[in-house]
Amino acid sequence: MTNILIVDSAATGAASVSRKLTRELAETLQRRDPSARIVHRDVGAAPIPHLTEAAGLVETPEAERALALSNELIAELKEADVIVIGAPMYNFGMPSTLKAWFDHVLRAGITFRYSEAGPEGLVTGKKAIVIEARAGLYSEGPAAAFDSQEPHLRTLLGFMGVTDVSFVRAEKLAFGPDAAAAAVADAIGELEALAESELPLAA
Ligand SMILES: Cc1cc2nc3c(=O)[nH]c(=O)nc-3n(C[C@H](O)[C@H](O)[C@H](O)COP(=O)(O)O)c2cc1C
Repeated sequence: MTNILIVDSAATGAASVSRKLTRELAETLQRRDPSARIVHRDVGAAPIPHLTEAAGLVETPEAERALALSNELIAELKEADVIVIGAPMYNFGMPSTLKAWFDHVLRAGITFRYSEAGPEGLVTGKKAIVIEARAGLYSEGPAAAFDSQEPHLRTLLGFMGVTDVSFVRAEKLAFGPDAAAAAVADAIGELEALAESELPLAA
């Protein structure tokens, strides 16, 4: 059985493009493999707290809650064969809610470790699909240098050992209705092709 973890992070609820695309992909995957188990973690709808001083103290209720949440999120991640991340671009990067998710799952000794040879990711053997929604155009052209979203996401996933990552971008969403519709249609086509060609699901 294939385990699929979907992490959504948009603050725009039902109007969210990234959430529409993660849902489309989930439906495609479930159609291809009806036995697939999908776990949905929506940090946009139910944000997880920032790591604060209270969470860093030892043997306090706050610290215990932060540790329990971190353990729960890491268990979801480790159980997943396929990780799907819905990532809007907020101020050239990822939403802070998604960054908070990474802050909880990147734990030394559990999802990565350091040795004499340097850092080593411990979350291996996974496929990740990151769906990025952006008002502007960053995959090429003059704003490409402002993209602090995709490189950061690639680094964080790779640091944990998730190196097989496909990025699907819905860009130019604010360039008019035609551009937005084309971007969404192209992204859906890319996701369908990915589901067919790359995921180890029963046909
Ligand atoms: C707080 C905030 C910051 C944003 N910053 C950017 C940005 O830096 N660049 C950009 O192209 N779009 C930016 N946008 C637009 C979103 O990326 C765009 O609306 C996208 O569709 C959001 O994803 P969603 O539809 O899944 O909510 C921003 C939107 C919000 C709400």
